[in-house]
Amino acid sequence: MTGDLNRGLEGVTVAETRLSRVDGEAGELVIGGFPLEELAPSATYEETLFLLYEDRLPDADELASFRKRLASHREAPPEAIDAVTAAADRGLPPMDAVRMGVAAASLARDGDETPETDSLLAVAQLPTVAAAYWRARNDEAPVEPRSDLRHAANYLHMLDGAEPDEERVRGLETYLNSVVDHGLNASTFTARTIVATESDVISAVTGAVGALKGPLHGGAPGPVLDMLHDVIDADDPADLVHEKLDAGERLMGFGHRVYQVRDPRAAVLEAAAERFYEGREQSAFFDAAREFEDVAVDVLAEHRPDLTLETNVEFYTAVLLNGVGIPRDLFTPTFAVARAGGWTAHCREQLEDNRIIRPRASYVGAEGREWTPVEQR
Ligand code: COA
Repeated sequence: MTGDLNRGLEGVTVAETRLSRVDGEAGELVIGGFPLEELAPSATYEETLFLLYEDRLPDADELASFRKRLASHREAPPEAIDAVTAAADRGLPPMDAVRMGVAAASLARDGDETPETDSLLAVAQLPTVAAAYWRARNDEAPVEPRSDLRHAANYLHMLDGAEPDEERVRGLETYLNSVVDHGLNASTFTARTIVATESDVISAVTGAVGALKGPLHGGAPGPVLDMLHDVIDADDPADLVHEKLDAGERLMGFGHRVYQVRDPRAAVLEAAAERFYEGREQSAFFDAAREFEDVAVDVLAEHRPDLTLETNVEFYTAVLLNGVGIPRDLFTPTFAVARAGGWTAHCREQLEDNRIIRPRASYVGAEGREWTPVEQR
């Protein structure tokens, strides 16, 4: 049986999907048939979501009615706000708060529990609970969602209590589109596994948030930002990289399980960050990040000539999200806000032609033990 063992399911195909195609060798990502470079900077998040759900772009009327329907689900139940507030008061990590908050979306169901309405509830309420958690952590009352704003704009509005300018919204939207889906990553697989038992989409999204919390999946952009702050303070960035690598540390924002070349999302996010920072006071931060990328890739190649360690999505995620005003501790929750589109679309796709996901394990435990009652042990 051990001949069958494939730890981590690497290279195993367990589903068909029309949602995204990841080509790790060529460094290509296609979302719903569009090259990422074309879709991410142009689409609103609602258009991307419609594309994933319906496999086509909406016309103007369809988009208006889809936006309205999504926005109508933004208000989280009071119990969700209580849960994220309690999490903030007790100092729990942001992703614990978001998991509890989105789980409570079941309370907002209006009688009909369908994969479609559950998907909209989960997508619409993730920003609400993430923002309410953040404000509670800062001893501020939650800001009511606004149904007239786009998904990304409303998220920024609920964080700051003010309507964001279009450049911030565009920057955030480009990020949300860039990471909305990425093949059968760990959290998406989790969501599909849960819904394949014919459980429900809110349970699937709750489980996916739990999977995304782990540092091997969604946790890198915060440490990237910390590293960039260290870089700005350092005399010689190359020395800093050498020090980290010599201490056996990994350089955050570099390397990828699937991509053997630069992650295509890095280029899209770099371009979005460049547009955003241009002419702003903090443009020196962007320039420092870009210079550091070159230094880091060179030092990594010198340190590990046997490997290809290129920039991954998290590097420019940190640069862009920092620019548009997402607090560092909300980087992973904001990843969840984006990926909720992919999770829910995968759930719906799974249910179109469902088969329970049930791999097996190779038993390596004891055999033939004899039972003895507890008082004789
Ligand atoms: N810095 C330094 N060394 C790295 C590295 C990095 N960013 N990424 C991988 N390596 C090295 C590992 O130390 C390992 O060395 P070893 O063979 O001596 O043990 C080797 O490359 C292979 O690492 P492994 O973890 O098996 O590769 P992987 O393909 O599973 O790794 C990541 C993918 C993303 C987990 C890994 O590149 C990493 O930890 N990157 C930093 C964290 C990060 O940016 N995560 C966000 C991913 S989108």
